[in-house]
Amino acid sequence: MHRRFTGDTLVLASHNPGKLQELQELLADHGVKVRSAGELGLIEPEETEPDFQGNAALKAHAAARATGLPALADDSGLEVMGLEGRPGVHSARWAGPGKDFAAAMTRVTSELAERFGDWQRVDKRAAFVSVLCLAWPDGHAEVFEGRVSGELLPEPRGAGGFGYDPIFVPEGEKRTFAELSRTEKSALSHRGIAMRALLDAVFR
Ligand code: IMP
Repeated sequence: MHRRFTGDTLVLASHNPGKLQELQELLADHGVKVRSAGELGLIEPEETEPDFQGNAALKAHAAARATGLPALADDSGLEVMGLEGRPGVHSARWAGPGKDFAAAMTRVTSELAERFGDWQRVDKRAAFVSVLCLAWPDGHAEVFEGRVSGELLPEPRGAGGFGYDPIFVPEGEKRTFAELSRTEKSALSHRGIAMRALLDAVFR
């Protein structure tokens, strides 16, 4: 049995503006007031767990304890098949302290090209994964996962989205995530899939 969300305010335990915007839009129709971690002055806990589930839980529980409100956290990343799943939970860290995602995308494409010889031979398969954890101050949590498979491009394309969006073409599309509108991206994305599962189970 899932626990229903019966309050009217939720904390979004993320400091990532791209994720905040996507999650806020997905929650907008459910009459939930959303407060962000930044607005509440919450510090970002260090992501010490080895998987998305662990880090999502760590962030959500920390924010719920600190605010006394239910808190929703996303832990997500890009798994590249030709790099044995890296960067995975280290996706944000590959961009360094300056959050340089141009450099992070170059690292992905150049490591692939180096490993496979040239781009024609590269195993281009990749997947974005999102784990959402909604935690209550009493320690209860609901967890949902979304995954979208696709292919990587050797060069970034498109100006929308954030992070690794410009090199990722989701299955069934020709455009990258950065070339889709926010609504189009949410219909396909890992975060959209996880969020719809959460909304169905907890907010209805
Ligand atoms: P974390 O979950 O805060 O550790 O960071 C996840 C990282 O994965 C982000 O900083 C991005 O680099 C990457 N990421 C997660 N979701 C997306 C997405 O929808 N598009 C592009 N990059 C993403």
